Amino acid sequence: MAVEKVDLTGARETLLMTLYGKALESRLPNSLLQDHFADEAVRRIDYDFSRLKVDGNLGLGFAIRAKTLDVRVRDFLARYPDAIVLHLGCGLDTRIFRVDPPKGIDWFDVDYPDVVALRRRLYPCRDQYHLIASSVTEPGWLAEVPRNRPAMIVAEGLTPYLAADEGPRLFARLVSHLAGGELMFDAYSRFGLKLMRLSPALKATGAEVHWAIEDPRELERAIPKLRFIGEVPSYKPEQGARLGWSARLFVGLWRLIPAMRKVGRLLRYRF
Ligand SMILES: C[S@@+](CC[C@H](N)C(=O)[O-])C[C@H]1O[C@@H](n2cnc3c(N)ncnc32)[C@H](O)[C@@H]1O
Repeated sequence: MAVEKVDLTGARETLLMTLYGKALESRLPNSLLQDHFADEAVRRIDYDFSRLKVDGNLGLGFAIRAKTLDVRVRDFLARYPDAIVLHLGCGLDTRIFRVDPPKGIDWFDVDYPDVVALRRRLYPCRDQYHLIASSVTEPGWLAEVPRNRPAMIVAEGLTPYLAADEGPRLFARLVSHLAGGELMFDAYSRFGLKLMRLSPALKATGAEVHWAIEDPRELERAIPKLRFIGEVPSYKPEQGARLGWSARLFVGLWRLIPAMRKVGRLLRYRF
């Protein structure tokens, strides 16, 4: 088994945080995500994951978010057997393997060229699976994506790293290129970004966070083709019960206090 050296910094390095969290959760006997590819990738990567200070609570949080998105992607693909999936800022997330899309679906994972090169070394290729090595904010890569098929766009842990003007421009380009579909991503309020900046994991990477979304409808106003469908609750009671006391307290406050609910949430749009 070849060991992979990684030399990622800033926003790119944060992919090791989510990967490690998902791998930790997947090692639990009652794992929600069962992401054996993530676990295997962590074992192969030569990197001191302890510096990211990802604990079981954070790992479970990443796993719950990933599972919630997996369920929505599967649901979309069941409704549109000729769909495409656009996975923006995929990092080393293995959604393609977890969802295991049926024949007929084309899947596009997009991230920076060095991240995509690492993915190629760690994970197998498969039919109808396409890797695009580009910043998502570069307009050129969309030329590789078919226009006239229903599209499920997912971005997990990406939006905070985009500049406040880049995010809406990216989404506007996507919805004008594609005929129609859904867009799902996690969004953070200004207060949410402040909390992120305090997190030891983010501090360890030196990544900077920029784009805050206070009101999901602000994107509707900026991009008329986009319709806000709603927030997707990610913590089901039975999942929350597996969190430690401090994380349960946070989730409790998150439910009760409106400002806390905006800290981090999964948003769903149609176009
Ligand atoms: C927190 S990680 C999340 C990775 C993955 N989505 C997951 O959930 O495991 C953030 C990811 O966004 C990617 N990213 C940030 N800015 C990007 C950009 N402008 N273009 C492409 N990828 C970007 C990083 O390279 C990294 O893989």
